[in-house]
Amino acid sequence: MNKFEEAILVTKPIIPSLKDLNPILEDIFAKKWVTNHGEKHNLFENRLKEILKVKNVSVFNNGTIALLTALKALDLPLGSEVITTPFTFAATPHAISWNNLNPVFCDIEPNTMTIDPSKIEEQITDNTSAILPVHVYGFPCDVDKIDKIAKKHDLKVIYDGAHVFSSEIDGVGIGNFGDITMFSFHATKLFNSIEGGCLSYNNDGLRDKIYNLRNFGIIGEEEVVDIGINGKMNEIQAAIGLLNLDLFEEEKNKRMKVRKSYIENLKDVEGIRIPKAPKNVTLSTQYFPIVIEDNFNISRDELYNRLKEYNVYTRKYFYPICSDFEPYKVLKSSSEDNLPIANDIKNKVLCLPFYGELNKDTVDKICEIIKESNYHD
Ligand SMILES: Cc1ncc(COP(=O)(O)O)c(C=O)c1O
Repeated sequence: MNKFEEAILVTKPIIPSLKDLNPILEDIFAKKWVTNHGEKHNLFENRLKEILKVKNVSVFNNGTIALLTALKALDLPLGSEVITTPFTFAATPHAISWNNLNPVFCDIEPNTMTIDPSKIEEQITDNTSAILPVHVYGFPCDVDKIDKIAKKHDLKVIYDGAHVFSSEIDGVGIGNFGDITMFSFHATKLFNSIEGGCLSYNNDGLRDKIYNLRNFGIIGEEEVVDIGINGKMNEIQAAIGLLNLDLFEEEKNKRMKVRKSYIENLKDVEGIRIPKAPKNVTLSTQYFPIVIEDNFNISRDELYNRLKEYNVYTRKYFYPICSDFEPYKVLKSSSEDNLPIANDIKNKVLCLPFYGELNKDTVDKICEIIKESNYHD
């Protein structure tokens, strides 16, 4: 088989046409209101509320600052512990640490690779203040079980929903669960504003607090009431976000077809496991991860390298995992004994190229390379 002439990357962002963008830019430039809660910003927040089916939305310049602000807004006691998953992007535990809180890692469950609710309670101490689960790859956490645990122990729940834009559980927008959910609009996400993100929450009492924290804690020309940050989204980001809101559904439909082609090709391949999406969930189609089990002929790393030889760039999300990172590996909860599933899967999982423009022939060829790898010596 010949290698692909052009590199096949793991994702490709949706981008609006310049024809549609230019008149909006002209409008922004004419008005000269380019940031600080402008017209496009406010419109974007309102449209997001409808699309995400949530009560409140606050947009941010990126998802990490949004997550930092979410943790800050909940006034968690300084130095308290926040239970999270090691199977996520670095921003998740970093947002906990930047708030002078301590991340405690809990193992994951093997199918969806989200935090395992049956292992959360053993991590709870007198010093635990919150749980920060991640809806990883687009697979929702077990929100009901997490909710029960949180209520029983009086803990806050902040979901990292960077991967689940527009997902629903039994028709309910995923941003309705827990106290606050963060969504990322980074270019690698299904829906993007190049950089950006938002928080969704049902408690109206959080609205002013989040608004102030996002703007340095300033509430008037001469009054600063909180230790805030600059989390404001500018008008150009908001304009791109607004245009992409008209494009992401089509992208999602195309990705569902790509997902179907991959599943059709790989479902009977021995040694390849395709994580199953729960039936009551509409997928965000963020990533297409597969798990290379021990009975596949070659290892995940060998498969990663073989695909690269054919110009196919997969990603080892997540390897290493957050508990392996320098600042976190010293934590008691980072021990391999505490995280057996995450440490096993980190060496087996591989995210395949996944975006709407990926045509069936390309998917078929990628799958042929994978299948051939199973029969090689
Ligand atoms: C799981 C997860 N959390 C947080 C983030 C941070 O979001 P942002 O890049 O918008 O700051 C990302 C990705 O970028 C992510 O994948």
